[in-house]
Amino acid sequence: MNFQELVRTRRSVRRFRKGPIPETKVLSILDSARWAPSYRNSQPWNLLVVYGSDDLNFLSEIYLNAYLRLAENLDDAEKDIILGMKETLRREFLDASFAVIMVADKSLSPSWPIDLSMASENMMLMAHELGLGSSFIDVTYSRISRYFEKDKIYERYGIPDGMEIFCIIVFGIPDEIPRVPHRKSLSEIVHYGGW
Ligand SMILES: Cc1cc2nc3c(=O)[nH]c(=O)nc-3n(C[C@H](O)[C@H](O)[C@H](O)COP(=O)(O)O)c2cc1C
Repeated sequence: MNFQELVRTRRSVRRFRKGPIPETKVLSILDSARWAPSYRNSQPWNLLVVYGSDDLNFLSEIYLNAYLRLAENLDDAEKDIILGMKETLRREFLDASFAVIMVADKSLSPSWPIDLSMASENMMLMAHELGLGSSFIDVTYSRISRYFEKDKIYERYGIPDGMEIFCIIVFGIPDEIPRVPHRKSLSEIVHYGGW
């Protein structure tokens, strides 16, 4: 796939089919992270790779609970949307092949969220190039963040003090062809030579 096609056709995949993924593909995805640009080449990223049904089940529960607790604090319409997504949310981790918890060493870079975002996009594009799907879950700034029990993850995986869990990327064999979400046109977002 050429790059133009790759960036245009990558989608957030939330439905996966269980099955083996060759180790070489996993390594290619992980390796792509370290080639991302970072603040003064600080490379503040750590990639905690999680696989196996026990661990994916563990993450699935934390993820679903965060959404359910968010729903409790929303109006009825939004609550219904989340409750309608319950099974999809649960399966997102359960059917995935592996997940990468992106953890920042904040002491290395004041721009760590940007650094880790760039590394994340590399991995998602690499996964797509290899025929795999991925979805990015923001557990730091999104609405679910305050309900997302990061402390359980720190404890289970022994993540040292000073490290910050930033996001989780779920990878797997796609079991859906997601619709193409609307993209703003260039004329809406580009300002040549001035606003
Ligand atoms: C900061 C950020 C947070 C996101 N959070 C979630 C999330 O919690 N759950 C999810 O399923 N997708 C999440 N996504 C994926 C977006 O919903 C998705 O990228 C967007 O709808 C565009 O669709 P596409 O990725 O298929 O082009 C997130 C993406 C970003 C960049």
